Amino acid sequence: MRPHVLSFVLALCSPWYAAAFRLVTYNLRFDSIPNNITVQQSLASLPDPLIQPNYLSLTAEQPWSLRRIRVAEHLISEGIILAAFQEALIRQVLDMAELLGSDWDWVGVGRDNGIVAGEFSPIFYKKTDILLISNDTFWTSDTPFEPSKFPGAGSFRICTVAHLQLKTGDRTNFTFLNTHMDDQSDAQRRLAASLILYRARFEAVTTNKPVLVTGDFNSPPTGADSGAYNIFTGVTPPVAINATFAAKYAVPPQSPAFSMLDLRAEAPRRAVRSTFATFTGFTAPSITSSWQRIDFVFGGTNGGWTADGYRVESSRTDDGVLASDHRPVFADVTL
Ligand SMILES: *[C@@H]1O[C@H](CO)[C@@H](O)[C@H](O)[C@H]1NC(C)=O
Ligand SMILES: *[C@@H]1O[C@H](CO)[C@@H](O)[C@H](O)[C@H]1NC(C)=O
Ligand SMILES: *[C@@H]1O[C@H](CO)[C@@H](O)[C@H](O)[C@H]1NC(C)=O
Ligand SMILES: *[C@@H]1O[C@H](CO)[C@@H](O)[C@H](O)[C@H]1NC(C)=O
Repeated sequence: MRPHVLSFVLALCSPWYAAAFRLVTYNLRFDSIPNNITVQQSLASLPDPLIQPNYLSLTAEQPWSLRRIRVAEHLISEGIILAAFQEALIRQVLDMAELLGSDWDWVGVGRDNGIVAGEFSPIFYKKTDILLISNDTFWTSDTPFEPSKFPGAGSFRICTVAHLQLKTGDRTNFTFLNTHMDDQSDAQRRLAASLILYRARFEAVTTNKPVLVTGDFNSPPTGADSGAYNIFTGVTPPVAINATFAAKYAVPPQSPAFSMLDLRAEAPRRAVRSTFATFTGFTAPSITSSWQRIDFVFGGTNGGWTADGYRVESSRTDDGVLASDHRPVFADVTL
């Protein structure tokens, strides 16, 4: 049964009920092979679905114009109502909006200027299931309220924040944050984790509602580059953050401790698929590969949520096309 159908059935039986839904975080890989083909042209040229594909005939990175169709097919078939993307250029954001359809809307800005330049970390939500209350963006740098790059980072980096309300169940309000940390600077990643954790704690304390965070951390949970993950999960202390940001999102000193929980560990074990790596590159499986788990879904320790399932899914279809160099991470959550 689809989550929202289950919610509806429960609604008939009970004066109050929690709402279950599915979300995804997916690094789409920026459009590195632009070819000006419209979404409608791509859709019109899709093969008959009853015809067997030429198995594993394509290997290398394919143009976004093809990959976007695979992304959309996958997400639509999963029945998600909330999607966090990373690495999306404005044309990719607009393509996803077109492919997901008019039931959907999105928030986010281009990281290079706070408008449309550079990659977005957008949050897409299904309007029939989720209401947008507010949204904002901050830069994961030393000057978070202006487009800026951390010294030594490869790129400008942002976090997109949305206050959302479920339209099902108890109409729970929640805060959703989506980010993409730097690929070159571990110091940037540690700062980003510290800023986002600080903001997430502010949301937890001031709203007393669930806080969910998704992101491509560009770094794994273990090993030399695990600083961001360890700060996020409370294993190591945060680094110093911008004072203006710290003042704006301060919480009373007696507020409870707060950190983030990895939903891969929180969901019932049998509901966690064993598929592990979220970054695969456009490469075939091999024991020497650089496949890594670097894309995550977290929930705040203030609670208000349960993780019902967690799945990393292949981005490959039978013809060999990889929809991205990352895989989508699906989480089933009840608020
Ligand atoms: C795509 O369109 C742009 C501007 O409309 C043009 O400059 C570019 O050559 C086109 N690229 C291809 C591959 O057709
Ligand atoms: C979301 O953010 C955009 C850009 O900052 C802003 O223009 C818009 O009004 C915001 N929407 C809501 C509902 O807060
Ligand atoms: C903190 O961030 C604000 C806003 O981005 C900026 O104006 C200020 O200079 C920063 N403070 C420091 C010490 O860098
Ligand atoms: C949810 O947020 C909206 C907007 O801030 C507020 O009006 C409403 O009272 C909130 N609902 C609950 C149950 O807290």
